[in-house]
This record gives sequence, structure tokens and C-alpha cells, in this order.
Amino acid sequence: MKRTSRLAAIMLTCFIVASTAAALAAASPVFDVDREFYPYYPSLMKWNKSTVPFNEPKRCGGCHSRQYKEWNGSVHSLAFKDPIYQGELNKGVKAVGHEVSRQCEGCHSPVGMMTGEIKGPGNAGLSEMALAGVSCDVCHSISGVTHWQTPSHEPENGSFILTPGVETKDGQTFIKRGPFKPSDNCGGGFHKCEESPLHLKADLCASCHQVYHYDSHFPIEATYLEWKHGPYAQKNILCQDCHMVDIEGFKRSADQFVKPQREEYHHYFSGANYLLTYLAAGAAKKAGDEKLARSLMQQYDMAVERLKSAADLELLPVYHDGALDELKVRVKNIRAGHNLPTSLSNVRQMWLEITARDEAGKVVMTTGTLNPDGSLPDTARNFNSDGMGNDFHFAIDPWVVTAFAKHDTIPPRGYKEVFYGLHFPAGLKKVTMEARLRYRQADQKVAEALLAAVPKDIDLDQVYGLKAVPALPVVDMAVKQATFDTAQ
Ligand code: HEC
Ligand code: HEC
Ligand code: HEC
Ligand code: HEC
Ligand code: HEC
Repeated sequence: MKRTSRLAAIMLTCFIVASTAAALAAASPVFDVDREFYPYYPSLMKWNKSTVPFNEPKRCGGCHSRQYKEWNGSVHSLAFKDPIYQGELNKGVKAVGHEVSRQCEGCHSPVGMMTGEIKGPGNAGLSEMALAGVSCDVCHSISGVTHWQTPSHEPENGSFILTPGVETKDGQTFIKRGPFKPSDNCGGGFHKCEESPLHLKADLCASCHQVYHYDSHFPIEATYLEWKHGPYAQKNILCQDCHMVDIEGFKRSADQFVKPQREEYHHYFSGANYLLTYLAAGAAKKAGDEKLARSLMQQYDMAVERLKSAADLELLPVYHDGALDELKVRVKNIRAGHNLPTSLSNVRQMWLEITARDEAGKVVMTTGTLNPDGSLPDTARNFNSDGMGNDFHFAIDPWVVTAFAKHDTIPPRGYKEVFYGLHFPAGLKKVTMEARLRYRQADQKVAEALLAAVPKDIDLDQVYGLKAVPALPVVDMAVKQATFDTAQ
């Protein structure tokens, strides 16, 4: 063994010992964990256990075909199959041990985790129910939440209760909970209905949209609390009012604080993840399912359009002693109900690219342009958060991140300003500045590493037609131009 590789092996062993020790160490007494109350810890899901089973989405779709069509192709329907998730899960299990997968799966495939069917990363041999991720029978079996009993006393890591039905003298009765007072024939003889005020609240979404470190209870993703501490919660504009309606309805909710009509709600759960729906559309085409591929591409379009509606830019010149000295760019979060970007803010990238042109259109200055290898230059202002472990080292893996070194996302209806020092060639009279707010799901290298880590039973070429990871697509969320005199 060469000296360097032996050193590397020793360091790796130390790392594994250190990380296992970290995994076994109990959390701070500040975050008291009641393991009897939370039998699936580190997932905080609870199950009112009986012999009553869960039903796969196709079964529900037999009578609720509209909801099924909308949901099938949503990010919720992909939450477990998602190859980026599978890659990260695989890494997590190797780094921390199998326990951690309960935390992940409690949100990405609650039923597969609880029934014990999912034994580890990978899709092979799993039932439709486990593969269905965040499916109909997850949301419509939620009978309550334990948000205030959790170790952090906030909604976190799947703090909801599932009750798919009850056992009676006559056998099993399915109970599905929804927004309405049950009609006479509610459930068509298949299930009973229960009116559930929880389904008309953001608390329904909160348990999964607050991702905490599995044992240190640090809020890595805090979409729900960002929303709750902002203006939309004060006006009763909920997650559902933006994410369960089409693009026009969402803009109305966001701009006018008006709630959609009941018949406007859909099961799209449309967000920002166009990369995932694009990959999944490739897989559906390869499998010959054109209908699903179309529905996924519709989700792709909706995500891109939503991103293009979320932000606005203002360009303001700053003169010192009569000379144009700085450009001030104001980046406004005009329509996201939470911070922009919101969860996975240590992975998502949203940055400014600035270009200055002279009167002839020649570029005289540029900053924030991607490097030829696809990485973001260090100088670019990236509105993200930088995760770190206990040792002040940069980290993105959720089992490592216990703090943020920086948190630079934009609050709802808020803005941030960035100043750029300007230096022009002599003799330039007018300059045209262009600012672009650009977005992608992850850094090129991070995406490549995650996709390289997918479990062996997911062949990216065979399933997704991916021979290599292409350059990740970038969406321009907002583009603004303005021309200024270089002297006042
Ligand atoms: C509390 C619920 C919850 C838990 C626990 C959780 N996640 Fe997630 N995860 C989410 C949500 C919600 C998103 C979507 C956020 C977004 O789109 O910005 C997500 C997104 C992701 C993504 C990005 C997927 C993509 O296509 O970009 C990865 C990777 C991921 N999770 C991995 C994990 C792993 C690994 C674990 C366990 C260590 C885990 N998650 C635990 C809720 C959870
Ligand atoms: C992420 C949680 C979630 C998932 C997954 C989900 N639903 Fe819903 N569903 C809701 C919410 C919230 C409402 C209430 C919307 C509203 O305010 O009208 C609802 C409403 C409904 C209603 C009442 C009529 C309507 O459309 O408003 C039916 C029926 C329904 N869902 C069936 C389904 C079926 C079938 C699936 C799977 C194909 C499904 N749901 C998946 C959360 C969910
Ligand atoms: C045999 C047909 C049938 C099947 C199968 C079925 N439902 Fe229903 N469901 C109905 C009917 C009928 C209603 C009454 C309202 C309506 O017409 O949409 C209803 C109503 C609902 C509601 C609204 C309840 C309320 O009070 O707001 C939800 C939620 C729901 N179903 C969920 C599901 C889920 C989840 C599944 C799969 C596990 C499912 N249904 C399977 C027929 C069915
Ligand atoms: C059981 C857990 C769970 C519940 C309950 C839940 N979600 Fe999610 N949601 C997830 C996970 C996990 C993902 C991410 C999956 C992935 O990226 O692989 C997600 C993704 C999303 C996305 C897409 C994000 C993107 O990047 O495009 C939206 C929008 C969303 N959820 C909205 C909602 C709303 C609204 C509700 C409440 C009505 C809700 N969710 C309830 C687990 C949940
Ligand atoms: C006023 C409208 C509005 C409300 C209310 C709202 N959102 Fe969003 N949401 C957006 C917009 C616009 C985006 C796209 C920009 C972005 O990524 O932040 C988005 C993005 C998301 C994403 C995807 C983030 C990513 O990086 O992929 C998730 C997940 C999400 N929202 C969940 C929620 C949840 C959960 C709630 C309620 C607690 C909620 N949203 C409330 C408008 C809204």
C-alpha cells in the first residue's frame, strides 16, 4: 500500500468511527425525545395501527380520475422514485447507518416506511403503494398532527398521525378525510368520509415541509415556518392556495390575497422542481407511457412558469462625484409565500448575472457567468444558505448539516440589494446594464455526484436514457435592462 493511500484509509476509518459515534450520541436534553410516543424515530410519524391496509393511488383513481391524473406526474408522485433522492439516501445509509432511512422515508414514502416494506435504498421488488411516495392515501388518512409534542415543539420530520380506517364487528372500514361535509353517498360504498378542518390548513403540509437534522433537530428546511412568519399567513393565504391551483389562480392568491374558489383546487402540487419532472418524463417516454410523459411535461412547464412569476428586479445607478460608480440591483420576492428560494436552500442555486454593454452593444463588463465547467464563480451573489457541520466545514448532506454558515434567502414580499462596483473604458458616455436572476436545482458537480450514487438497481441509462449527466438547465426567473449616463 502506498503511503498516501494508507493515510487516506486511516483517515477514512477515523471518519467512519467519528460519524457513527455522532449518530449514537443522544441529542441535547433541550430536544427531549419520547421514543415510546415516536416509535419510528427519527421519523416522527405515528400510525393508528390496525389490519386496515392502505390503498394504492390507482384504486382511488378508479373513482377520482381527475385527482389521479393531476397527482400522477406531480413531484409528490415521484418523491420516492426520484433518482436524486435515491442517490442521497444511499449515501446517507452508508454514512450514518440504516436508522436514518426511517427519517427520510417517513416523508418520501410514509406508507412504505411504516409497514416495514422498504428495507433500504432502491426500487426493486417494491409494491405500487411503497413506490407511490406521497400518495392519496397518505394525505387523506392523516387524522391529526403532533406538532407541539415533537422534540423541537414545532412541526418536523413527519409529525402527523395516519388512520386509514377502523376495524369493526363487520370487518374493515376505510375512512378518508377531506374538506367537505360528507354527502349521502360519499365514498361510493368503498370508504366512509370524514370532514377534516386540518385539510383546509397549512398544518397538513407542515409536518413534511419542515425538515430537521435527524437527531440535532436543526431546521435544514423551514418552508412552513418561513410562511407562518410572513404576510401570507396573516392573510390566510395557504400553501394550498398557491400550489393546488393553476398559474393564474396562484398569481391572484399572491397578488390580491384572495382565496381561490373551491372548484379551482387541483392536485398538481406544482413547485419549482422542473429538473425532476424532466428526468421522469424521459423515463415515461422510454417506458412507452406517452400520457404520463405529457402530464410530466405539463408539470415541467408549470414549474418553469411559476419560477418566472416569483421574482422581480430593479436596477438603480449610484453616482459619486458625478460619475457612475456603482450599480444597485434590488431582487424582490414578489410571489413566493415563503423565502425565495425556500427548502434545500443549501443545494438550490439562485444567483445574479450582470452584463454591461457600450453604445455599440459590445460587452464591457460581466459578472456571475457560469464557468466553462458549469460551476458558479465564487464572486457570484448566490441567494442560498451554506450548511455546515459542527466543525465549521461546508456541508450539504442533511445528516451532517447542524447549522448555517450563512443564510441569504429573500423573505416573502421582501427584497435584498446587491452593489456592483463599475469601471468603464475612458470615453464611454452611456452604458446598458442587464441583470438576470438565474436558477437551477443544484451545482453541476453536486448533481453529478448524487446521480452517480444511485443504488445499483436503478440503471440511469436503462430507466432514464441518461448516459451522462447533461449540463443542468438554467431558468431565467427575471431579466431587466436599463441604460444610464456614465456621468451626471
Ligand atoms: C420532513 C420531511 C422530510 C424528511 C425527513 C426528508 N426529506 Fe427530503 N425532501 C423533503 C421535501 C419537502 C423536499 C422538497 C423540497 C424542495 O423541493 O425544495 C425534499 C427534497 C429532497 C431532495 C431533493 C430532490 C430533488 O429532486 O431535487 C433530496 C435529495 C432529499 N430530499 C433527500 C433526503 C434524504 C436523504 C433524507 C434523509 C436523510 C430526507 N430527504 C429527509 C422532505 C423531507
Ligand atoms: C399532499 C396531500 C394530498 C395528496 C397527496 C392528495 N390529496 Fe386530495 N386533497 C388534499 C387537500 C389539501 C384537499 C383539499 C383541497 C381544497 O381545499 O379543496 C384535497 C381534496 C381532495 C378531494 C375533494 C375534492 C377536491 O378535489 O377538492 C378528493 C376527492 C381528493 N382530494 C382525492 C385525492 C386522490 C384520489 C388523490 C391521489 C390521486 C389525492 N387526493 C392526493 C391533499 C392531498
Ligand atoms: C368506489 C368509488 C370510490 C373509490 C374507490 C374511492 N372513492 Fe373517495 N369518494 C367517492 C365518492 C362517491 C365521494 C363523494 C364525493 C364525490 O363525489 O367526489 C368520495 C369522496 C372522497 C373524498 C372527499 C371527502 C370529504 O368529505 O371531503 C376524499 C378525500 C376521497 N374520496 C378520497 C379517496 C381516496 C384517498 C381513495 C383511495 C384510497 C378513494 N377516495 C377511493 C368514491 C370513491
Ligand atoms: C407525507 C409528507 C408530505 C406532505 C403531507 C406534503 N408534502 Fe409536499 N412534498 C413532500 C416531499 C417528500 C416532496 C419532495 C419530493 C422530491 O423532491 O423528491 C414534496 C414536494 C412538494 C412540492 C414540489 C416542490 C418542488 O420542488 O417542485 C410542493 C409544491 C409541495 N410538496 C406542496 C405541498 C403542499 C401544498 C402540501 C399540503 C397540502 C404538501 N406538500 C404536503 C412531502 C410531503
Ligand atoms: C403566495 C404563494 C405561495 C404560498 C402561500 C406558498 N408558496 Fe410555495 N412556492 C411559491 C412559488 C412562487 C414558488 C417558486 C419559487 C421558489 O422556489 O420559492 C414556490 C416554491 C415552493 C417549493 C419548491 C422549492 C424548491 O426549491 O424546489 C416548495 C416545496 C413549496 N413552495 C412549498 C410550500 C409550502 C409547504 C407552503 C405552505 C407552508 C407554501 N409553499 C406556500 C408560492 C407560494
